[in-house]
Amino acid sequence: MENEKKKNVFSGIQPSGNLTVGNYFGALRNFSRYSPDEYTCLYCVVDQHAITVRQDPAELRRRTYEVLSLYMACGLDPEQNILYVQSHVPAHAQLAWVLDCYTMFGELSRMTQFKDKSQKNADNINAGLFTYPVLMAADILLYQTDLVPIGDDQKQHLELTRDIANRFNTVYGPTFTVPEPVIRRTGARIQSLAEPEKKMSKSDPNENAVVRILDDKDTIIRKFKRAVTDSDTVVRRADDKPGISNLMTIYSCVTGKGDGEIEAEFAGKGYGDFKLAVGEAVAAELAPIQERYKQYLSDKAYLEMIMKQNSEKAAYLARKTLSKVYRKVGFTSV
Ligand code: TYM
Repeated sequence: MENEKKKNVFSGIQPSGNLTVGNYFGALRNFSRYSPDEYTCLYCVVDQHAITVRQDPAELRRRTYEVLSLYMACGLDPEQNILYVQSHVPAHAQLAWVLDCYTMFGELSRMTQFKDKSQKNADNINAGLFTYPVLMAADILLYQTDLVPIGDDQKQHLELTRDIANRFNTVYGPTFTVPEPVIRRTGARIQSLAEPEKKMSKSDPNENAVVRILDDKDTIIRKFKRAVTDSDTVVRRADDKPGISNLMTIYSCVTGKGDGEIEAEFAGKGYGDFKLAVGEAVAAELAPIQERYKQYLSDKAYLEMIMKQNSEKAAYLARKTLSKVYRKVGFTSV
């Protein structure tokens, strides 16, 4: 076993808004499940993805520091995990260009996230929005990634990444590891609190729909109290009870309890008690993270040192794949 190569884990989060409990349960919280003793772990703040929709430059810069601080606050040690910023490693964009030439227009046209985002940003359907999944494929394939922990909404992008990798490998011989998505059974899709048929999204303009990782306790409890449910009174998972089902999922993520246990715990009690319990449980889970987050964020010099050191580590690994790809497609080197 000793000589066996460690598996590589890669994931990324866009610094495009204030992160939500959807990002937390669907992705961020799961990153720390991979022990750096067993895996080489890279977690990227994907700022280049973020500019596919208009960003305020000062805000984008600030959020980049914030997401990096959150990575650490969620238990990722920057000495043992490669925590870095996408734009600091040019190989992402370089590989993306090559992969653009191995990705079909029809494939990109079928991406549901492109269709959604085009609708939401009808005045700015730019080429970056369209080729977004290719940059994502480059992020992943650059590090010979085995495992990609993500929420359910990124599944289609992962399938495309696998198709691109297989296509390239078929033409040029083994070049890329074909990655596997890791999508957890519970928490991979947290829904909006206001419209529980919709995904909770960091860019939702309705603040009551979204619980932020950095919301304070009172705000969290208030938002859960206001969560849209139904006219029934029984805490039970059912297709026609999307609001309560979503709250049960969130409660299960925090407490580890199954549906049966949750139903028994709240039998005979109303939705009010249940919502309060969910709010309190989420607030208690997030409190220590918020505390650590504040400490990290207050030390900009430290964050910049981490960014620099880790982008060098990432760039070293990335260069190996990029030069292999350049050689295979026929680029000259001097
Ligand atoms: P982003 O920034 O939208 O979201 C970051 C992660 O959070 C997950 N997520 C959710 N999980 C459960 N419920 C929700 N409501 C919810 N909302 C978001 C996402 O699935 C994601 O895992 N394209 C990616 C970023 C990216 C990436 C990558 C990810 C770029 N390159 C390479 C993995 C590997 C995105 O927009 O995530």
